[in-house]
Amino acid sequence: MILKSTVDRIMEATDIVEVIGEFVQLKKRGANYVGLSPFANERTPSFTVSPAKGIFKDFSSGKGGSAVTFLMELEKFTYPEALKWLAKKYSIEVEETVETAENREEENRRESLMIVSGFAAKFFHESLLDTDEGKAIGLSYFKERGFTADTIKKFELGYSPDQWEAFTGQAIKEGYQPEFLIDSGLSVKRDNGNLYDRYRGRVMFPIHSFTGRVIAFGGRTLKSDKNVPKYVNSPESEIYHKSNVLYGLYFAKKSIREEDNCYLVEGYADVISVHQAGIENVVASSGTSLTVEQIRLIGRLTKNITILYDGDAAGIKAAVRGLDLILEEGLNVKVVLFPDGHDPDSYVRLVGTNGFKKHIEDNKKDFILFKTNLLLKEAGNDPIKKSEVIRDIVESIAKIPDSIKASVFIKECSNLLQIDERALLSELNKMRQAKAKKDSQQPNGRMITPVEDYPVVEEPKEEPKETYSQEKEIVRLLLLYGNKMIDWDGIANTYIGPFMIAELNDVEFEYPAAKTFIEIYSKEVENGVLPEDQHFIHYPDKEIVDLVVTLIATKYTLSENWYEMHKILVSDEQANMKATILSAIFHLKMHKVGKMLDNLRTELQNAKTDEDQDILLTQYMRMKKVEKTISDYLGSVILK
Ligand code: CTP
Ligand code: MN
Repeated sequence: MILKSTVDRIMEATDIVEVIGEFVQLKKRGANYVGLSPFANERTPSFTVSPAKGIFKDFSSGKGGSAVTFLMELEKFTYPEALKWLAKKYSIEVEETVETAENREEENRRESLMIVSGFAAKFFHESLLDTDEGKAIGLSYFKERGFTADTIKKFELGYSPDQWEAFTGQAIKEGYQPEFLIDSGLSVKRDNGNLYDRYRGRVMFPIHSFTGRVIAFGGRTLKSDKNVPKYVNSPESEIYHKSNVLYGLYFAKKSIREEDNCYLVEGYADVISVHQAGIENVVASSGTSLTVEQIRLIGRLTKNITILYDGDAAGIKAAVRGLDLILEEGLNVKVVLFPDGHDPDSYVRLVGTNGFKKHIEDNKKDFILFKTNLLLKEAGNDPIKKSEVIRDIVESIAKIPDSIKASVFIKECSNLLQIDERALLSELNKMRQAKAKKDSQQPNGRMITPVEDYPVVEEPKEEPKETYSQEKEIVRLLLLYGNKMIDWDGIANTYIGPFMIAELNDVEFEYPAAKTFIEIYSKEVENGVLPEDQHFIHYPDKEIVDLVVTLIATKYTLSENWYEMHKILVSDEQANMKATILSAIFHLKMHKVGKMLDNLRTELQNAKTDEDQDILLTQYMRMKKVEKTISDYLGSVILK
């Protein structure tokens, strides 16, 4: 358990704009910041951050909360993980109470997998730097490749000793459970149940998550034997989904945002060499073709991708197919090739930083034009092939969501293809219409596809809407006015919060988050505290944070003319504070009593004996009286 005092210090230090700004490009708008939702695929920003309240609200996905909840949603962190991430960012020392066996049991699997991966990274890094074998084999290899000591440290490069159990043995000795060693892919299980090291004798490239935790490895062999796979990579696991990860992104994200461009290369070595040369906005797809998830990861940081490929034709052709995906996501794609036999890694070492940059400037081509040239060259003078090329190119252009940009490409391609621009345009429009038709047939199409499957707080299935909304209204009033005084009759002043809690002590809340909220609120009131909204915004329970943020952050209250609109709304409510509070309480009570009466009626109909009937009838009449009292009361007090 992280100590409360640590939690408080973390909360104090946290600047929500700064934290979210690491993941989402935010623009200032009035008192707030807006950006594109990282949870939904949207083109107009609906993601809003309010630094004053310390909350974010995403109007496309409905998610909202504090900086902590944001990290939990986006990175699938647990509550303590999110806190530790913030502590690290703000250099706050985390104080924890001693971990009991129970706590350890509870620690979820993902956390365990990350911990074991972190341990492995450290083990491999130390074997590289501190053992004779590591130094002689691994370190000398990296040095030969031109990696500096700083680079080796920054990327946590390592070496896995050429023995069957060097790593596994140490891990077991230090208490790591075999289950996690196997599931993370670090160890492999023999038929007899024993474990052995997966990466024997390989140099190790740890793969970091977006927030810098080690989640997987690539291990490169140093043998030139063709039968030995060059790389052995971690298998898919609960913490490593290959298609959602880009190698180097953690080290590149800041620079990608600053440069407003991301270089995409193929391999680990390319990322490291280019980064070491001072060009830090570089990531790798690690040998696989780019996935939509990876593109969206980049798209959160910049809309510009520059692809750096080595000059071999086979690679380019395969890559070109995948690139339409990037266009579809609305990103601008440029392509740069390197002279035959060179990849970004070898080329940057050959020509240095400035030479490398110059090569990129001189050779970068818009993807569409690059593709047109490439295909045209292939088609030669064959007219049938050429017409296929035209179709292919227009198909790519049709994927560009921005129609102005698309028409510019049509113009340029009409030159290259030597075809009348109008012919291309009419072809383009045909394709767009077909696409629009297809999209409209899929109502849940691309617009709301989340980047990943985030755990969503599920509303209970059949929502008894009225009850829930009345209960939420109570929560809203407590949040807004709980710590305010109300003057009942010019004589007695009370705080609204404790008054409402006392009035509601006979009401059973049904909406789970509201129920919990009321419990927390009551407990605080008992302790003599009037909890403010910040108390709930930073609460560990996500459903509470969700409820609270939804209630205090409507699009309307976060909008630019927040003040003016809010003033109208609030003053209205405040003028009739008494009525507002009582009406909420008694409407809820009325509703509950109504439901009880319904139940009693059903029971009465099904009553077996006269005696039962008698008891139920008495209850029914008593309840009817309560109903009457409440409705009289409502009639007299509530002005409406
Ligand atoms: N790759 C892989 N498995 C292989 C070969 C390649 O997973 N058998 C992935 C690795 O992520 C590698 C990338 O594809 O980084 C690019 O491959 P390659 O260019 O062969 O590797 P480099 O990283 O450039 O390695 P090196 O420069 O050391 O040859
Ligand atoms: Mn290479």
